[in-house]
Formats: sequence, C-alpha cells, structure tokens
Amino acid sequence: MNHIALYRKYRPKTFDEVIGQDHITKTLQNQIMNDQVGHAYLFTGTRGTGKTSVAKIFARAVNCLSPVNGSACGECENCKRLEQENDINIIEIDAASNNKVDDIRQIREKVKFMPVGAKYKVYIVDEVHMLSDSAFNALLKTLEEPPPYIIFILATTEVHKLPQTILSRCVRFDFRLVSVDELSKHLAKVFDKENITYDADSLKIIANAGEGSVRDTLSIADSISAYSQGQITKEKTLQVLGTTDINLTLEFFDKIYDKELGEVLSYIDKIEKEGKNLAVFAKDLSRHARDLLVCKSCKNANEILNLTDDVFEKFSSQAEKFNEKDLIRYMQVFSSAESELRYTLSVRLLLETTCLNAILGFDAKKN
Ligand SMILES: Nc1ncnc2c1ncn2[C@@H]1O[C@H](COP(=O)(O)OP(=O)(O)OP(=O)(O)O)[C@@H](O)[C@H]1O
Ligand SMILES: [Mg+2]
Ligand SMILES: [Zn+2]
Repeated sequence: MNHIALYRKYRPKTFDEVIGQDHITKTLQNQIMNDQVGHAYLFTGTRGTGKTSVAKIFARAVNCLSPVNGSACGECENCKRLEQENDINIIEIDAASNNKVDDIRQIREKVKFMPVGAKYKVYIVDEVHMLSDSAFNALLKTLEEPPPYIIFILATTEVHKLPQTILSRCVRFDFRLVSVDELSKHLAKVFDKENITYDADSLKIIANAGEGSVRDTLSIADSISAYSQGQITKEKTLQVLGTTDINLTLEFFDKIYDKELGEVLSYIDKIEKEGKNLAVFAKDLSRHARDLLVCKSCKNANEILNLTDDVFEKFSSQAEKFNEKDLIRYMQVFSSAESELRYTLSVRLLLETTCLNAILGFDAKKN
C-alpha cells in the first residue's frame, strides 16, 4: 500500500480547516462577502504555515457562484469544476524554477486572456523572492495595471528579499507560527482519523518539535507513527526525535547547580554511550536554561512553555534555585557550543569543557 504523507493528505480545502491563521482567513472571507477582493496579495511567513493552501482556497472562493460566508459553496457549477486540480483559471507558478524575465513575460501575455467560465483568473506565484531583478520589473508592469479579472497571490518565506516597489503594490498578510496548543489539537484530530494511538505527552512533544510549522509537525508525526507502527508513546517519540528526556535534563541542571564536576562528566559519558547526538544535547541544555528563565520571569510561564503539569512543577522549583544572570549565561554558552559541536572533531571534549566552564562561571572563549 502506498503511504501518502500526512501533510499531503490533510491539506486544508476550506477556510474553516485552516488552523492558526484566523486573522487572515476572516479578512479574506469578509472581502469576498463584501465584494472587495483585491488584485495583488502577498502571503509571507514561515514554511508550512498555510500560504499555498490559503491561496488555493481563496482562488476557489472568488470564483464560486454563491459563496457561503465568504467560502466556496462546493456545489455550484464553478466549484465542481474547480475541484479538479488542474483548473485553467488557477495558475500556479513556482518562481524558483521560472525565475527568468521571459517566464514572467509569458505570464504577461497570458494575463490578457479572460478567464474561462469564471469571474477571476488567479495567479499563485510561489517562492516569489527567487525572481531575478528583470523578472521583478516585468512582474511590476503587470501589477501596475492588472485587468479587473486578474488576481495575483505572491507567496514567500523571505519577504525581506522583495523590492519595495513590489511590496507597495500588494496587500500583505503575515502567516503566523502556529501555537503548540493548536498544533496538538490538530495532531489529535489527524491521529484519530488515521487510527493512530497516542498520549497527551507525545502530542505536546511532537507539536513542540514542529516549531510552529504545521507541515513540519505532520512530517515529524509521520515518521514517529511509522517507527512506532501506529502506536505512539512518549518513549518512542523521544527516541525518534533524539531529544533528551526532560527528567535527564533536569537532573543534569541539578548537578550543574551543585557544582558536581565528576557527576557532570559521567552524565556526558552516559549520554554519549546511549548514542545521542551531543550537539542536540547542547541545544536541549540551552533550551532548558531558557525555559527556567521563563519560569522565573513570566507570570503565565506555562502558557509559553506548554509543559505537562508535573513537569512544569519540577521546572518551577528548579528555577527558584538559579539566579537569572547564570541562566542567561548558560543559554549563551550552550547555544554557541551547539553550533561549534556540529563542526568540531573532538565533540565530547568540547562539551565537557563547556559544561565545566559553565559551572565554574567563565566563558571558555574569553579565557
Ligand atoms: N494553517 C494550516 N492549517 C492546516 N494545515 C496546514 C496549515 N499550514 C500548513 N498546513 C499543512 O502543511 C501542508 C503544506 O502547507 P502549505 O503548502 O499551505 O504551506 P506553505 O506556507 O505554502 O509552505 P511553503 O512556505 O513551504 O510553501 C498542508 O498540506 C497542510 O497539511
Ligand atoms: Mg507554499
Ligand atoms: Zn460554489
């Protein structure tokens, strides 16, 4: 049986199915309801947060004959036709592979033709930051005087690479990173539909690992589900992710607090023997210091951290022991060690030195 990646199988088809981007979907729906659709949109934001999906949903909705609350009805003649992937009125262009001025000129030629059996022709230009300078200029000409039946949706993860002239002609929507909470809920729904079993802890761990991207979260979930044959547990999740069990990180920080040099060294030994990546471990340590700092300084700490209740309690009591200055220093030394650890040959030695220096209170580089 062919496995379809979860993120492909669960591409949202309606505005309602899009998670975490209400500020955008609501505005677009209102524009459709009030007949105030624009002609040039810019969708920016991190990878896998819904830019292409929303562009397609919008393209269908603007051509629907009787939209319901600004969404495509799914039943009219146009909706039925638009359900087919290769609708001639929705033109997707990948700017990464069509970045030449001639490619854009071709679009300009085609823009002259009216849509067929629909109100609008929608051009979705993905990765628009990849266009060459001359291609941008050509695009600009089209954006300056678009025929009334044309809508451009430019999508990019790297908005800072776009010229001001393009930016100023587009209505801009910034796609947000999706919260751990929303990602967890989404995962639970997908797992239920797929008959994958899971527990609440694994949901949070996977959602955290996705770092705000829905696609990344679903891809990670996919590999964990494959590894655990559809029965996801916390242990298996941690194994696949290669992250350190939170309890171990907690214990490690206790050793650092107590300045037990010998214990710290034997922990590193143990971790290395378990086959863990020491750079990942350094990242976990830096993250832990940051999390403790959040516990110390934020009132709504667990809304930010999203830890399970018992773990949050442990974090809070550990946070009380440390002072803020030390925590900030740990964040710095461990995160700079993380990147160095990816290149050095003497990984273990570097991590040991970093930890000992952290304990003794000076920065390895300055001494
Ligand atoms: N906001 C969202 N709600 C629900 N699913 C989403 C969302 N964003 C992304 N996804 C999931 O991720 C997949 C990819 O989303 P999409 O192609 O829309 O992202 P993108 O922002 O265009 O990413 P890229 O920057 O890589 O082009 C979708 O098929 C869907 O499974
Ligand atoms: Mg995209
Ligand atoms: Zn319709």
